[in-house]
Order: sequence, then structure tokens, then C-alpha cells
Amino acid sequence: MSFENILLEKDGNIAILTINRPKVLNALNGDTLKEIDAAMEQLSADGEVRVVIITGAGDKAFVAGADIAFMQTLKPLEARNFARLGQKVFSKIENLNKPVIAAVNGFALGGGCELSMACDIRVASENAKLGQPEVGLGIIAGFGGTQRLTRLVNPGLAKEILFTADIYDAAAAQRIGLVNHVVPAAELIDFCKSMAKRIAAKGPIAVQLTKEAVNEGLEMDIEKAFIHEADLFAVSFATDDRGEGISAFLGKKKPEFKGQ
Ligand code: HXC
Repeated sequence: MSFENILLEKDGNIAILTINRPKVLNALNGDTLKEIDAAMEQLSADGEVRVVIITGAGDKAFVAGADIAFMQTLKPLEARNFARLGQKVFSKIENLNKPVIAAVNGFALGGGCELSMACDIRVASENAKLGQPEVGLGIIAGFGGTQRLTRLVNPGLAKEILFTADIYDAAAAQRIGLVNHVVPAAELIDFCKSMAKRIAAKGPIAVQLTKEAVNEGLEMDIEKAFIHEADLFAVSFATDDRGEGISAFLGKKKPEFKGQ
């Protein structure tokens, strides 16, 4: 499929998805969400890709939110469908069978902050600004922000961010755990690629199962989550990668994981 609103490139076993509407600071309309959805299907099926990085085109914005001009045309039921579309696409990112790193290269507001939160790991450039400004428009966060922010920081802090619409600079976002790292803008993609390469060198099935254990465990009672973890641990034992990883360690060699 060819894309108009996003770019999808591969660098070895790392894929980079760039939201590419710089004239509107990469704002998300329905078509862009559908393209992200199609890209996730493609990436999920691509056995060569082990880690995905999502970023925004240009040096100003990751994603400045849902496209406000597009939203202006929506009737309430269409707005609901738009919110549901974004929620479904973002859940697909959250549950993709490989890790996703958000390279937050500028404004990540509203739907942009929500997109970053659907990724597994967030790295921000020093000029990044994150927040949920929706209430300033008389609307609420609708791509999962009321839920993911509450789980990622804490409910009291999430409510403050959502009620005040305050914008957090990168350092403040890191202080509250909204982003893991802050790096100079010029180093952002290399930093994310370097992290992606470290992840890509590990057993890909083990990484996938770890993502499942964390994500699914968060929705479970902790004792059930432990059992689930043990089940997935057993699954990891059924892989060739387990044989490779353990014998490489014992043989003092570097493992070559095949993802089998
Ligand atoms: C559509 C947008 C946009 C957006 C920026 N633009 N954000 N268009 N939707 N979310 C457009 C501007 O209209 C402008 O177009 C161009 O991008 C450059 O933006 P400026 O405002 O001129 O830049 P600047 O003065 O630097 O301000 C940057 C900014 C501001 C602070 C990020 O653009 C801003 O406040 N944007 C809106 C942020 C926001 O409220 N996001 C949440 C949206 S609601 P022109 O044609 O004038 O050049 C949301 C809901 C999610 O995300 C859930 C939905 C279900």
C-alpha cells in the first residue's frame, strides 16, 4: 500500500514510521489514522522488522493532536467514530508483536501525546512539549488519553494534566515519568535507533512475550498475572532462540537469534 500521510522506511530490522503532515504539525485526520493502521498490519507481518520507531516529520512537531479543522466538520456520532478509530489504531500499536519507540521530536499534544503513550517507550528531544489541551477546546481526550495517562503517571497527576491543559516541557515530562529520556534534537533518532538495535539483538520472541506479559498482566489480578508470566516463560522455553541464547552464554559466544 502506498501512503500519503505517513512515511514507512526500514533500516535493517528497524522500521521508522514518520507522520508526514508537517504543514499542520502532523495533525491526525481519519485518513492518517487509517494509514497508521495499515502500516501496523504490514509491520506485524514483517518478520524482518524487530523494533518500530514512530516520529513526526519536520523539527517542530511529533503530532500536534487530532486535526482540529477535520474535527470541526464532525457531527457527534461521527466524532465518536473518529475517537473509536483512533483508539483502535492506538491499541494496535500498543499490542503490536514488537516494541514501538516514540521519538517525540517536538509538540506531542492531545492525540499526539496519546499516540506517544500507546508506544512502549517514549524518548523526547529537548524541544519536545507534551500535554492534553483538549479541555481548552471544550472537548475531552478521545484517543485513550484519559486511560493511558492515568496508568502511566498516576490518577491525581493525570487529572491535573487533563483538567488544566498545562503543557509540559521535556524535562518536566521526564520528571513525572511521561518520557524515559531527553536528548538533544539532533541526536534523537540516533538515540532511538541505538536503543532499537540493542532490543533487536535480543531474542525477538522473548521480547514479544515480555511485551505481552507486561501489557496483559496490567489488566489482571497479580496472582493470575504471575501464572500468565509463567505460561509465557514456558512458551519461551519452546523456542530455538532459548537454545541459542543459553548455549551461547555457556559457550561464551554472542547469540544469533533467529526469532524461531
Ligand atoms: C490542525 C493544526 C493543529 C491541529 C497546528 N495546526 N496544530 N491544524 N489540527 N491539531 C496547524 C495550524 O493551524 C497552522 O496552520 C500550522 O499547523 C502551524 O501551527 P501554528 O499554530 O501556526 O504554530 P505555532 O504558533 O508554533 O503553535 C504551535 C502549537 C499550536 C502550540 C502546537 O499549533 C496549537 O496549539 N495547536 C493545537 C494543539 C491542540 O490543541 N491539540 C489538541 C487537538 S484535540 P496554518 O494554516 O495557520 O499555517 C485532540 C483530540 C484527540 O487532539 C482526540 C480525538 C478523538
